[in-house]
Amino acid sequence: QSVPSVRIVEVGPRDGLQNIRDSIPTATKLELIRRLESTGLSTIELTSVVSSRAIPQLADCRDVLESSVVKRLISKSHLRLPVLVPNIKGLDIAIRHSIKEIAVFVSATEGFSKANINCTVEQGIERARDVASLALKSNIAVRGYVSCIFADPYTGPTPLAAVLRCVKELLDAGCYEVSLGDTLGVGSPLNIRTLLIYLLNNGIPLEKLAGHFHDTYGQAVANVWEAYSHGMRVFDSSVASLGGCPFAEGAKGNAASEDLVYMFHNAGISTGVDLSKLVETGVWISEQLSRTNSSRAGTALAAT
Ligand code: HMG
Ligand code: MG
Repeated sequence: QSVPSVRIVEVGPRDGLQNIRDSIPTATKLELIRRLESTGLSTIELTSVVSSRAIPQLADCRDVLESSVVKRLISKSHLRLPVLVPNIKGLDIAIRHSIKEIAVFVSATEGFSKANINCTVEQGIERARDVASLALKSNIAVRGYVSCIFADPYTGPTPLAAVLRCVKELLDAGCYEVSLGDTLGVGSPLNIRTLLIYLLNNGIPLEKLAGHFHDTYGQAVANVWEAYSHGMRVFDSSVASLGGCPFAEGAKGNAASEDLVYMFHNAGISTGVDLSKLVETGVWISEQLSRTNSSRAGTALAAT
């Protein structure tokens, strides 16, 4: 089978679920992961190993990582299954569960850094560097996230240079890829274009970047297309457009995986994902969570 032109990083089991208040049974999370993998998605963020006070919904991360579903997937060498970790404690737990990839995360801005991980941007970078260094020594691949690329809920607009600094630091720390997070979902294509040109002009290779765009203002799909047109080929998204963060109140879910796959396939760009299976998964998880399915392509296709 040929390599897909675009890689979709499904963040539904982590970003998608982390901000849902009602406790979701672990079995439902595992069934979601299983169904997502069966659609052909090759990268699925499984969960996060963070303080259960910060993110109560994912307090069952150990049960997820110990499950036979996850163990079976980890044994498949073609899959990337990152687990989000904020510190060495999280990394240790990931290592104990034979995880092969982690994601570290920093904010480009002080307000969100303090609220999300209780430290300054500088301390967050140091922490990510320590975690990445230890992970690489244990043969664990490291992905990086920079949050608040356009704005911070507490401190306002983000300077371009603040994003550049974090991207550089994460790449220097050994991240194989850095995902640019529009945590608030406020950016639109002109902002994407300005940021990507700035990063490119400052020596950041586009192959090292991914896009992680929340859809608060309905711009996520347009932002993905804009980034694609500049050469970006990796995009984070959630089935049914699930997603959000308790420390970015009011922000909506991620770009819907179904919408991205629909858009790319219609442009003759392969993703390796079976759209109809993905649509079924979006309908199924929305029913399980008693939530409206926020994927436009997903609901339209499910109705036909
Ligand atoms: P802290 O309070 O400064 O740290 O939190 P601490 O070391 O004092 O620990 C506090 C408690 O958490 C202790 O428990 C620790 O044991 C426990 P206690 O003794 O009080 O019972 N703890 C942990 N438990 C499990 N796993 C761990 C862990 N570490 C400590 N790894 C800390 C600092 C970073 C731990 C906390 O702020 C935290 O966990 N933050 C994570 C918040 C989070 O997950 N946010 C959402 C993900 S980021 C996001 O959504 C953005 C993204 O999608 C991109 C975008 O959209 O921009 C990635
Ligand atoms: Mg996010």
